[in-house]
Amino acid sequence: MPQPYYARHVFFCLNKRENGEDACAAHDAQGAFDHCKSRVKKEGLSGPGKVRVNKAGCLDRCAGGPVAVVYPEGTWYSFVDNADIDEIVESHLKRGEVVERLLLPPDVGR
Ligand code: FES
Repeated sequence: MPQPYYARHVFFCLNKRENGEDACAAHDAQGAFDHCKSRVKKEGLSGPGKVRVNKAGCLDRCAGGPVAVVYPEGTWYSFVDNADIDEIVESHLKRGEVVERLLLPPDVGR
């Protein structure tokens, strides 16, 4: 297997719904995404061989929103504020340690 271009890839659902149904955008997913991107950059973690933070549409786990997923581990997080994002960056993206308290339960779907 070739080395992956990014060591870790983070996807944030930024989906919004115009029909009044709940979606991650209604819980400031954009703010969390922006904060994560800037924090990853500030920590020197971004770029090839390191971490990439990307926008995503609905990831179909809306009931736990806002959500983000980190690959290659496939670790799903549900977060509330920037302090949660800071912990994910410091612990998971920097040291490879999953933040257990922010894990999205496996049975949460749409
Ligand atoms: S709206 Fe975010 S996972 Fe569906």
